[in-house]
Amino acid sequence: MSGPSSSGSVAAYRAVVALAIFAVLTGLLFWLNPEALYPWIKAVHVVAVISWMAGMLYLPRLFVYHCDAPAGSVQSETFKIMERRLLRAIINPAMIVAWSAGLWMAWSGFAFSGGWLHAKLVAVLALTGMHGYLAGAVRRFAEDRNTRPARHWRIVNEVPTLLMIAIVILVVVKPF
Ligand code: HEM
Repeated sequence: MSGPSSSGSVAAYRAVVALAIFAVLTGLLFWLNPEALYPWIKAVHVVAVISWMAGMLYLPRLFVYHCDAPAGSVQSETFKIMERRLLRAIINPAMIVAWSAGLWMAWSGFAFSGGWLHAKLVAVLALTGMHGYLAGAVRRFAEDRNTRPARHWRIVNEVPTLLMIAIVILVVVKPF
C-alpha cells in the first residue's frame, strides 16, 4: 500500500471500522442497562480516559523530537513507527471506549441533563477535535510533509492538558 490515494482509502476504511465498533459498543450498553453495571462502566471509562490522555499528551511530545530528525534518517523512521502505533493501538481504541462508556453513563445516570454534563460534553468534543488534528499530523509526518516547527507542537501539547483539567473539575466537582 503506497501513494496518497491508497493510504487515503485505508484511512477511510479504518474510520468506518472505528465508527462501526463505536456504534456497536454504544448500542450494546444502551440495550443492557442494569443498575449494577454503572460502577463497572465507570471503572472502564476511567481506565479508557487515562489511556486516551496518556497518548494525547505523549503524541505531540513525539512530534517535537520528530521535528529535529532529518527526513529519511533512522530516527525519523523510528518516530513514524512510534507515532503510528501509539495512535492505532492506544489512542483510537481508548477514545472509542471512553465515548461509549461516557455516553452510556450520561444517559442512564443523568438522562443527558445538567450544566456540568453539557459543559463537559463541549470540552470532550474539543478534545476529540484535537484527536483528529493529531491523527492528521501523524499522517503528514509519515509522508514527511510536516511544515510546523517544534515550537508549534510544544504549544499544541498544552491543549489536551488544559482540557483534561477542565473536564475532571466539571465531572468531579459538578460546579453547576
Ligand atoms: C468521551 C466523552 C465522555 C463522556 C460522554 C463522559 C461522561 C461521563 C459521565 C456521565 C460520568 C459519570 C459521572 C458520575 O457518575 O458522577 C463520567 C465520569 C468520569 N469521567 Fe467522563 N466522559 C467523557 C470523557 C471523559 C474524559 C476525556 C475525561 C478526562 C480527561 C473524563 C473523566 C471522568 C472521570 C474522572 C469520571 C469519574 C468521576 C467521578 O466518579 O466522580 N471523562 N464521565
